[in-house]
Amino acid sequence: MGWFITLEGVEGVGKSSCIPHIANFLAGQGKAVVTTREPGGTHVAEAIREILLWSDKGALDPVTELLLHFASRRQHLVEVIEPALVRGEVVLCDRFTDATHAYQGGGSGLSQAWIDSLSRIVHPTINPDLTLLFDLVPEEGLKRIASHKADRYERESLAFLERVRQNYLARARASNRFVIIDASQSAIEVQRQAVAAVETHIWPGA
Ligand code: TMP
Repeated sequence: MGWFITLEGVEGVGKSSCIPHIANFLAGQGKAVVTTREPGGTHVAEAIREILLWSDKGALDPVTELLLHFASRRQHLVEVIEPALVRGEVVLCDRFTDATHAYQGGGSGLSQAWIDSLSRIVHPTINPDLTLLFDLVPEEGLKRIASHKADRYERESLAFLERVRQNYLARARASNRFVIIDASQSAIEVQRQAVAAVETHIWPGA
């Protein structure tokens, strides 16, 4: 099996712009790399992403929203993540189930036990080997993305995003699969730390 690396954090932390840097580093080490994202990553999952990110406020029941995230995830797992891992490749994924715990659990207050149950159904044998958590106060993250059209999650209150952040931090403190990156630093420094975290945590065992 290959390696499954996920990137997590609240809005505007700069995680997505780290992905090409990590991918270049891994490619330089001779690894085949697949970069992808959630919700999304396949035709069907990208269609579900449209519903999740661009439905009107209040149009999505919270449990429907939870199930759509897992429906998108299942399709992505079967079509993209699992085949790449079986081929021995590195999968770099922008968000995975930790985001569901943080946003639908921490943010919206849905049961963490439901999320755990759905995880066991949707990805019973596959979980991230390493998760980079980009940590930043939500006020700062929202300032960084103020110039683009806000999706449904980016229009959430600061209190919601702060609950998301605290849920991520609690999960990170409870598991040694996480590396927390201080995303308040310059973009170059954040990218450097992200690559260093992959080098330190993945490479020696790979
Ligand atoms: P992003 O691609 O800009 O990170 O946007 C995806 C949004 O979807 C982000 O605001 C977080 C949200 N999300 C959830 O609420 N639950 C999930 O399980 C996932 C994967 C993403």
